[in-house]
Amino acid sequence: MDKGFSPGGQFVEHAEVHIGETRLLIGDCRKLLPLLPSESVQCCITSPPYWGLRDYEHPEQLGSEPSPAEYVAHLVAIFREVRRILRPEGTLWLNIGDGYARNGGTGRHGPNARVGNTRKLIQKRNCRVPACWGLKDRDLLGLPWRVAFALQEDGWILRSHIVWIKKTPMPESVRNRPSRATEDIFLFAQQPGYFYDHQAVREPSGANLKNYWLLGSEPNSSDHPAAFPKDLARRCILLATRPGETVLDPFAGSGTTALAAQELGRRCILIELNPAYAQAAARRLQARPQRELWLSLGNVL
Ligand SMILES: C[S@@+](CC[C@H](N)C(=O)[O-])C[C@H]1O[C@@H](n2cnc3c(N)ncnc32)[C@H](O)[C@@H]1O
Repeated sequence: MDKGFSPGGQFVEHAEVHIGETRLLIGDCRKLLPLLPSESVQCCITSPPYWGLRDYEHPEQLGSEPSPAEYVAHLVAIFREVRRILRPEGTLWLNIGDGYARNGGTGRHGPNARVGNTRKLIQKRNCRVPACWGLKDRDLLGLPWRVAFALQEDGWILRSHIVWIKKTPMPESVRNRPSRATEDIFLFAQQPGYFYDHQAVREPSGANLKNYWLLGSEPNSSDHPAAFPKDLARRCILLATRPGETVLDPFAGSGTTALAAQELGRRCILIELNPAYAQAAARRLQARPQRELWLSLGNVL
């Protein structure tokens, strides 16, 4: 693909856009993270694609690996690079979802059908259970914890497991198990003495913040299929950074992390693979008219 911006003004890969205190890099985070300087970022808040769930319509997308074991290996390598970029007292906040091993059929929508506003990769794969971890048909993968343990083994200190309880979960028409209404958020540090401002977010009673967060979905002007609530990013930013510090999100999607960072007076670096999502994130972030945004385009990498 060409570098830079198309004559039609569409975002393309390998470009960089500045919107206020946010730097938006467009491309594969595996190629772009190595370009960021060491120890330059205070915290990373991110939600990678979940394995086998959605199609983000790009050949380099994470989450489309043939097996969940390969997915875990990719995440470990990506977050090793994030560790280099974080300051020694910095932290990683990782939101990650689970899935099921499935056998048989492609569902009534057919292979890779459009379901709602997304495509379901899992339907492509329903004809075999992935050959790893002794998985059987209908097994819950346990992916968030498998990723957490793999990161722990790779040197991260796992400091907290937070359960995000969804006020308005996606309905599931299952009849053989309770429907899912939670997701996991892990807090990782690289050394025992890391920055955490325990006064920044408290329970309404004034008590110490608990490790279950009840958060609702929020209106999001982009049509990204998997945005997390701005309140989730807000909490992490307040707990993990001081004003003026930099937050990183290598799987930026609709730019929710930067939106929260901007509102809290923090700088932000976003990386997003799909130029269409990057463009939607930029639109969401810009306080200024589109024309001024185009005039302020940064360097091409
Ligand atoms: C779960 S979504 C993130 C949503 C985001 N937290 C928000 O609130 O909008 C994951 C994003 O990662 C992007 N992505 C997938 N593979 C990537 C890669 N290799 N490098 C950078 N971004 C990638 C996808 O296009 C998708 O937008």
